[in-house]
Parts: sequence; structure tokens; C-alpha cells
Amino acid sequence: VTIALISTRKDLQAALGNRRPGLVPTMGALHAGHTSLISRSANENSLTVVSVFVNPTQFNDAHDLQRYPRDLTADVAMAESAGAAVVFAPAVEEIYPLGFDTSIEVEALSALWEGAHRPGHFRGVATVVAILLNLVRPARSYFGEKDFQQLQIIRRMHADLALPGEIIAGPTARDDDGLALSSRNARLSAADRERARAIPRALERMVEVAQQGTVNIQVLELIGRAYLEEAGLKVDYVAVLDEDTLRPLNLLQPGARVLVAAEVGGVRLIDNAKLPVRTNHEEQPIAASAR
Ligand code: PAF
Repeated sequence: VTIALISTRKDLQAALGNRRPGLVPTMGALHAGHTSLISRSANENSLTVVSVFVNPTQFNDAHDLQRYPRDLTADVAMAESAGAAVVFAPAVEEIYPLGFDTSIEVEALSALWEGAHRPGHFRGVATVVAILLNLVRPARSYFGEKDFQQLQIIRRMHADLALPGEIIAGPTARDDDGLALSSRNARLSAADRERARAIPRALERMVEVAQQGTVNIQVLELIGRAYLEEAGLKVDYVAVLDEDTLRPLNLLQPGARVLVAAEVGGVRLIDNAKLPVRTNHEEQPIAASAR
């Protein structure tokens, strides 16, 4: 069986029939982060569709859109070897036909963090993901945790609009040096790449400090920020927040996550990590036997 490369809604419907596949939405430039999602989908669904669509409405910078890496041949080969049966690679007019006039705004969650830095970005993401979910009607769709705010916005929209299937999150894939995989990493010079390693190091250190019992968010954020600034990164935010609301926390509590955005050599990088809350395991049996 070789992979089917499909570019129209009509051919997609014909290929799927009534089947409910796994869907991995992408903008191409596939890397190991994508292929781990594709492999997982191939394990969990009898059919996997990978969409490759560089969505113009989520770019707030025309230059960024123009220089976004495109190599459909390579993407198709990677999708196939990871277990996909279909690549859906529509033209812009196929997703946004003449007269298209609707958008989806996940209000509060889109106003913060990346949304504050990139006006309209999440409106574009939410709208295209809703279209893809309605076209493919997947049983499950797969998104990376690397873009954590995006993931939470998609989850919110999916629940609010009763969109089809289930949303599944995959862990962030990292290079050997800890840097989260991203199509943007290719733009880093060797020296900037070295500096960028401060991001996963800062996250690791914050996880460690949280593990040791620090609950003061200001302290945690300062520790993370110091790692980044010492490496010469321009920090946009190091923010400890609640995973569901994405609102900043004052004290560490279950469901806390740190989001980081920083610039190095003109390349903006984001990353995140779940922060543990230390629980004292020794106390519990003593308390139980005292009762
Ligand atoms: O994460 C991405 O690659 C894109 O934002 C997505 C989800 C495919 C929507 O265009």
C-alpha cells in the first residue's frame, strides 16, 4: 500500500467514505515531533491522515509566511514511513474558497502570551483546525505539547463547538541537547543554537526547584529567567500558570505549567514544562495510623 496524496475536499471525502481516521494536522516541515504523533495515530487508528497546509491566516507577518519551509515530497515520504495512509495537502483556495468570511475566536485563552505577541494568530489556528476537523471527521486528532497554548485553545474550541473526535496531546520531542524540535531551529546559527540550550536547561532547573519544595512563583520565574539572560537570550516571558485557564499563579499548585518565550539571533523560540508539586509521601502512613 502506498500513501495517497490528496489535494481536494472531494477526493478526501471519496478516500475516507464513512471511515473515521486519526488526523495529524501539520504545516509540513515534518520532524520527529510530527512523526511521533503520526506513529501514535497509526497505532491507534486503522487509517491516519496527515494534513500539510501552511495556513496563511495564522501568520501575522507576511515575510514569515513567505519564508516558511515547504518540501511536500520530503513530508510525504516522512508521513508514509511513520505510518500515514493519506496526506491531505490542499491549496489555499481549497480551504478558503472565494467568499470565505468566517473565523473562530477562542476569546480569553487567545489574548494571553503568544496571542499578545502575535495578534490574530490563534484566530487563524482555531479556524483552520475547525475546518480540518469537519472535513476529516477524525476519531482522534493529535497535537504536540510543544505549542501548549495552541493545544489548550484547540481543546477549548473542540469542547465548546462539539467538534468531532477526541483531542490527543503528544509530548514535546527534543534533540539530544534538549532543545524542543521546531521548524524554526533551522534558522539558528551554530552559536545561537548553543545559546538556545539555555531554554530546556532553565525548564529543567525550574522543575528541579519545584520538586525540592519551592512554591513561590516569583522565585521560580526568576531562576528560569536568570538562565536565559545569562545565555544572552532576550526573554519575552517566563510564566508559571494554570494549565486550564493559562492565568498566572501566585503559588505552585497541581496543574501548574511554565511557559517560556525568548528570542535568540532574531529567532523566537517557545517551550514549556509541567511543574511538579512536592507531596510528602512519608507523612501519609503516620497520619493514617494515628487516626
Ligand atoms: O501546529 C501547527 O503546525 C499548526 O498551528 C496547525 C495546528 C497545523 C494549524 O495550522
